[in-house]
Amino acid sequence: MGLRAWIVAGALLWAGAAHGAWTHVGDVDRTEALPDGIEVSAGAAKLRVTVQADGVFRVRLAPDGHFVGDASWAVVSGAAAPTVRVSDRRDAMTVDAGDVVATVRKSPLRVEFADRAGRVLLADAADMPMAWSDTPHGRRVRGWKAMPAGEHYYGLGDKAGPLDRRGRAFTMWNTDAYAWQGHTDPLYKSIPFFIGLRAGGAYGVFFDNTHRSRFDFGQESEDVLSFGAEGGELDYYFIAGPQPARVIERYTALTGRTPLPPMWALGFQQSRYTYTPEARVREIADTLRKERIPTDAIYLDIDYQDGYAPFTVDRKAFPDFERMIADLRAQGLRTVLITDLHIKNDPGKPYAPYDSGLREDVFIHNPDGSLYVGPVWPGDSVFPDFTLGRVREWWGGLYRDFVAMGAAGYWNDMNEPSVFRVPGNTMSLDAVHRMDDGSTRDHRAIHNVYGMLNARATYEGLLKLQPDQRPFVLTRAAYAGTQRYAATWTGDNTASWHHLAQSTPNLLSLGLSGYAMAGDDIGGFIGSPSADLLTRWYQLGAFNPVFRSHAATDTRGHEAWVDGEAHTTLRRAAIEQRYRLMPYLYTLAEENARTGMPLMRPVFLHYPQAEAFYGNDRDFLFGSDLFVAPVADERLDAHAVTLPPGTWYAFATSQQHVAGKTPMKIDPRPTAVPVYARAGAIVPMQPLVQHTGETPEGPLQLQVYLPAQGAGDCRGALYQDDGVTMAYRDGASLRVAYSCEVSKRNVSLVSHVEYDAYTPWWKDAELTLFGVGTRPASIRVDGKPLSGWRHDAVAKTLTLTVRDARRDWRVDVLR
Ligand code: NOJ
Repeated sequence: MGLRAWIVAGALLWAGAAHGAWTHVGDVDRTEALPDGIEVSAGAAKLRVTVQADGVFRVRLAPDGHFVGDASWAVVSGAAAPTVRVSDRRDAMTVDAGDVVATVRKSPLRVEFADRAGRVLLADAADMPMAWSDTPHGRRVRGWKAMPAGEHYYGLGDKAGPLDRRGRAFTMWNTDAYAWQGHTDPLYKSIPFFIGLRAGGAYGVFFDNTHRSRFDFGQESEDVLSFGAEGGELDYYFIAGPQPARVIERYTALTGRTPLPPMWALGFQQSRYTYTPEARVREIADTLRKERIPTDAIYLDIDYQDGYAPFTVDRKAFPDFERMIADLRAQGLRTVLITDLHIKNDPGKPYAPYDSGLREDVFIHNPDGSLYVGPVWPGDSVFPDFTLGRVREWWGGLYRDFVAMGAAGYWNDMNEPSVFRVPGNTMSLDAVHRMDDGSTRDHRAIHNVYGMLNARATYEGLLKLQPDQRPFVLTRAAYAGTQRYAATWTGDNTASWHHLAQSTPNLLSLGLSGYAMAGDDIGGFIGSPSADLLTRWYQLGAFNPVFRSHAATDTRGHEAWVDGEAHTTLRRAAIEQRYRLMPYLYTLAEENARTGMPLMRPVFLHYPQAEAFYGNDRDFLFGSDLFVAPVADERLDAHAVTLPPGTWYAFATSQQHVAGKTPMKIDPRPTAVPVYARAGAIVPMQPLVQHTGETPEGPLQLQVYLPAQGAGDCRGALYQDDGVTMAYRDGASLRVAYSCEVSKRNVSLVSHVEYDAYTPWWKDAELTLFGVGTRPASIRVDGKPLSGWRHDAVAKTLTLTVRDARRDWRVDVLR
């Protein structure tokens, strides 16, 4: 045993002392080929390595030889095994599928994944085979992997601290982490999935276990990574790349993708804990419109309810609730209502959710058969048993009245679940959850998936009530796969520069973990941001998938107008730019729905070889074509920006910059927002609107950032549909691919309509070409000379209009 193994063993002995020592799996004594992989025995233990999909292997260990069920809350794709080749040698078995070969070594039993060239991607640590240990509450399981030098780890959802997880350890246990800080762990969500990235090559691991689990990336022992849980199976998926984007695509094929959101959910959203009474909500709506702050939604937090009882309305504070929702809607504002899952324990009083819930036996019980009761906002509350399909249906039905009133979205908060004044801040671990097959699980097994099932019940219920409308649900707690049902946010952050800086790694990490539709509370939930901080937060939030301003009760307002005209102007400009970019943003949301690619992307997602960006927590790509280098720093020193490889145009000034090793120095004042467009990008934009329901006036705007001569890779995409209904599923959409080519004598631009079953608001397209230094000799559209174009020699831009542009066309700019 090497020195490291001694250290590990020492740590384990210590860790194991409270629970009983680890039993490591021994030598393989029996092997069997399965149709989709192999099964081996080592004494009583059994291990299965099967192929789930192309490039996706599943590994399961049953210490006593019995695999427990096959159910997963997260996995949606059934095993559709491609051709699997199995070989059995004296010392090892291999399962060969596509680009990856899994090897099971026999003495002792160890699993290893390698690529075709034999490069090992992930291997059980040499002297630490998988293990288990028994505890009073079940059996812990754990696996240890060799951790190569220079490998970086990303994912696990929105964990605090740097994006690269190497050198730290994390717990998965959904927690109401009020006022969390950079070192706080665990937080609200459990997404047990990570990506390993080394020298441009990536793979993923998804540990599908809902118990309290732990991931260690070299904290316990510096060259060992490990993961395990306090119950359930050692059941994980190895997901091949080699590109990091491919890993995400495969992971989201496995756990599901986010359905296309309603377009209004990509607009700016105004929230606060808490807008009350009704007159205040109307005042906020009026001010948003008066100040011309484009906005799509207003949130009502817990004070609109009667005694904080979910699904009620405080009619004293909101006498004309229905009318208010309708009036807001007439102003282009959708109402999002908080609907927490704790149902007020209100025997003796008429309260429909409690009464019907009791009648239908939907609430969670203690082991002695009594109802589990815990205090939350309404006081003593009972909790729906969301593991039962019939309870999810009951919950979904609770939305009937609000849907009829015209509310547009719902907010599932406190669903870790949060319980006040009890140890651990959550439900008793012995509480009993019933399963559809008649069995039960204690809360230890269900806790991490409880919030997901709450979001699922909401989403499915809304879909049932309004099959033609895209539901919008915002959830705080989540497990892997929750991206199928709800958008999310990072919980109760703080109004500090530190938290502004933390926003980006959190949201990037969620996106890498399959959860792209995410945002954080603009301005920071807790506390009152300074004017500069709030402005910077708006400027960053404009490039977050979910863009929602929110604040706690005792803070000053976080609305855009609270700091006087100069700041209002800057914040308005940030929001306006987002609305102008809506065609680009919506096209990204559609890409996310189709492929799982996040909207916010670390630079390495498109430039896996650019190792200088592996540790960059501050900057990100928004789609493939915009690079955002936000100022998240209070200092007034120049802001240093290093661009990703290639040539980039400053988005605001259209000035060209070539990426170099030396950072550029940017003006640190809030008037400068460092955003860059990739040379070779064609970015679709639109005229300004005040909300997404308003029809833009004017042409589609295509911003063409010309690459260098012969550089290639000049492209853009546009996806459009009606933005709210499900008609797109029946094909009612428009899809256009744009491309350009720069040669010595000619710049050509091509529009190719790939799918045309939706008529958008625009007819013409206005093209602005950036990087046109000299005035063109002539311009042709489909071979015919065009007049009326404009060239600006100082800005180096060329502007022209293509009439009736929803078709295939070609523009030639002759130099
Ligand atoms: C906790 C949530 O995180 C916060 O956003 C909300 O305002 C409060 N609960 C009150 O509902």
